[in-house]
Amino acid sequence: MPFNQRTTLAQFLIEERRRYPGVSGDFNMLILDIAVACKAISAAVAMGQLANLHGHHGDDQASINIQGETQQKLDVLSNELFISNTNWGGHLFAMASEENDKPIAIPKDYPQGKYLLVFDPLDGSSNIDINVSVGSIFSILRLPEGHNGELSEDIFLQPGIKQVAAGYALYGPATTLMLTLGNGVNGFTLHPTIGEFILSHPNISIPEDTHEFAINGSNRRFWQAPVERYVAECLAGKTGPRGKDFNTRWIASMVAEANRILTRGGVFLYPQDNKDPSKPGKLRLMYEANPIAMLIEQAGGRCSTGTMPMLDVEPTSLHQRVPLIFGSKNEVERLERYHHETGK
Ligand code: AHG
Ligand code: MN
Ligand code: MN
Repeated sequence: MPFNQRTTLAQFLIEERRRYPGVSGDFNMLILDIAVACKAISAAVAMGQLANLHGHHGDDQASINIQGETQQKLDVLSNELFISNTNWGGHLFAMASEENDKPIAIPKDYPQGKYLLVFDPLDGSSNIDINVSVGSIFSILRLPEGHNGELSEDIFLQPGIKQVAAGYALYGPATTLMLTLGNGVNGFTLHPTIGEFILSHPNISIPEDTHEFAINGSNRRFWQAPVERYVAECLAGKTGPRGKDFNTRWIASMVAEANRILTRGGVFLYPQDNKDPSKPGKLRLMYEANPIAMLIEQAGGRCSTGTMPMLDVEPTSLHQRVPLIFGSKNEVERLERYHHETGK
């Protein structure tokens, strides 16, 4: 199809805004800045080993981030690209990143705005060195009404239901951007020579049923009863209680799993387990679970902790972890039922 019949991300944003005359569209430019950050990260990731960007950042101690996880060189570069491409536009009051302990201020040279940007600059970064898909995840919140102008962690601690937009870019065989502005989910593919994100997956809808589930099976001995039951029933296949065969998937890049599920359905679990009772899960609420939850629910799927809807969780800290279950509606509801039955 000739390029002139395609909708670019900028055109999509402007046309969306026209459909809702009351909407200011203030953050259109912010979304476009995020898209530039994602294109820059995509270009860095695509260089692979040639850019000497593989491996750990710094010496062994310097490479441990606030999460207690090893930072890769590309984690650090992606974080810098996200910050420097979005801090200048006047839309943001502040940002928060997986890679920064504290919230990130907007430099004094730039005006401050009314939005908060929270992001995981590179998700699945343990996959970089083996050339498996990674991505960037982002969430946009409003600065709470009546705030006192101080930059503190508290202003970010809003439940996912308050997100005004969320999305991710996936750096796979193609670079894609999945976006929700609270009115459905649309997917864009980066045209490699034109350098624009082009609308390629309009109005994404997740099938309600699936025969694919994704969980890290090496944690099995730590699983709790509802997850143990769910997986055992799936694995029992056609002759078991589910009456059908299931496939398992595990990429170890949540963003890539979310993309599969948005595209053809499925269910993803990183549940609470008994491995380390101080950790309620592995994945982080503010910049992993919440933006994925908004996308999944806007596409007709469901996202839960197992015991409550993800988007209702009241955050208590910026980097808190949470049990995460998302995907095809009927499977996630079944998992919630198993959790409630065990709780009784
Ligand atoms: P990050 O690279 O941002 O730290 O996130 C990695 C996450 C997520 O993407 C993935 O689903 C999960 O960690 C993989 O966990 P396991 O190593 O336990 O499989
Ligand atoms: Mn991550
Ligand atoms: Mn990350």
